[in-house]
Amino acid sequence: MNLNNRMAVCPGSYDPVTNGHLDVIGRAAAIFDEVVVGVVNLPIRKGKTLFTAEERIGFIERATEHLGNVRAEAFSNLLVDFAQDLGAKSIVKGLRAISDFEYELEMHQLNRRQAPDVESVYLMASPQYSFLSSSGVKELATFGGNIQDLVPDYVAARLKEELSR
Ligand code: PNS
Repeated sequence: MNLNNRMAVCPGSYDPVTNGHLDVIGRAAAIFDEVVVGVVNLPIRKGKTLFTAEERIGFIERATEHLGNVRAEAFSNLLVDFAQDLGAKSIVKGLRAISDFEYELEMHQLNRRQAPDVESVYLMASPQYSFLSSSGVKELATFGGNIQDLVPDYVAARLKEELSR
């Protein structure tokens, strides 16, 4: 068996990682032998993310240290190229609502066109996270809302430092 076929990439901006992302990553880790969390680090988006790629990766590493088969890496090329360079045949993403479906369908078709042998696998969001997004958490944090249980504690602390008035 080619063990490379048992590797999955969980891609995203993760600015910052939420408990919804961590739910999907944990579920992917239970299905695949190896999970690489791919953190988008686009120079073109520089200044648009609240946290640097290094800090975003650090949050994910800390949250997944109990999972021996998960690691996080930055990437700035095409997602399918990143996956193929790693030898991964699967991309795993979470799906929340109909709005996600439209975007992900487009991404799926584009990615499939670039690399037909890389399969995209979608995990339905757990109900308690079906409303959760990094941008929603940032908005809440900006105005002093309660973000406990939405992100790990140390992420919440850093968000408050960066965003609260
Ligand atoms: O919604 P996100 O978290 O910003 O998603 C990022 C990502 C990479 C998962 C999404 O943009 C995607 O699926 N892109 C496919 C096209 C691609 O490879 N873009 C380059 C990213 S560096």
